[in-house]
Amino acid sequence: MRVAVDLAKASRLLNHGPTVLVVSAHGDQRDVMAAAWNMPLDFAPPKVAVVIDKNTYSRGLIEASGEFVLAVPCAAQADLVVGVGNSSGREIDKFARYGIASTPASRVQAPLIEGCLAWLECRIYPEPHIQQTYDLFLAEVVAAWAEDWAFDGHWRDGLLEAQRALHHLGAGNFFTTSGLIRGG
Ligand SMILES: Cc1cc2nc3c(=O)[nH]c(=O)nc-3n(C[C@H](O)[C@H](O)[C@H](O)COP(=O)(O)O)c2cc1C
Repeated sequence: MRVAVDLAKASRLLNHGPTVLVVSAHGDQRDVMAAAWNMPLDFAPPKVAVVIDKNTYSRGLIEASGEFVLAVPCAAQADLVVGVGNSSGREIDKFARYGIASTPASRVQAPLIEGCLAWLECRIYPEPHIQQTYDLFLAEVVAAWAEDWAFDGHWRDGLLEAQRALHHLGAGNFFTTSGLIRGG
């Protein structure tokens, strides 16, 4: 039976891939938030799109610096993802609160968060209209990194549950995926 889906829940029908951590830095400030609404946009140069709500503290750091890192966390980091996605850098230093270890990125000021599967260093294409109207940020990926045990040009199949990326279902619930299907 086909059932109607509440439009408020329509976004949950589209799984755009892994939930990411958006890491930002400007001057001596830094922050990290969760973002499920992200997607690739192009191959060369690689581009991404991500929704960064205007009420977030991250938003100001990203607009001021023009940069961010998208880090792909694994299931072992689910509590961290929910924690940084439900607290604000306006009130707390999330790196201290959640004991987040990080190392410097190569091309942007925002750091790489340890324990993640992959990292995309990004520089935004300033698009004031879509940023203001839709909270949508477009960016070029200027460097990218991944753990070799997780990614070898494709995400590896057969990772342990705790090592897999998180796919947000809404309301703080996630799927992990497995079971490679070879498409020719
Ligand atoms: C699983 C999850 C996914 C989220 N996805 C997004 C998103 O795509 N875009 C967004 O603006 N906020 C998203 N949020 C909410 C932000 O992470 C949240 O507002 C965060 O507290 C902002 O932190 P900040 O004020 O320190 O920047 C998500 C939260 C969770 C828990």
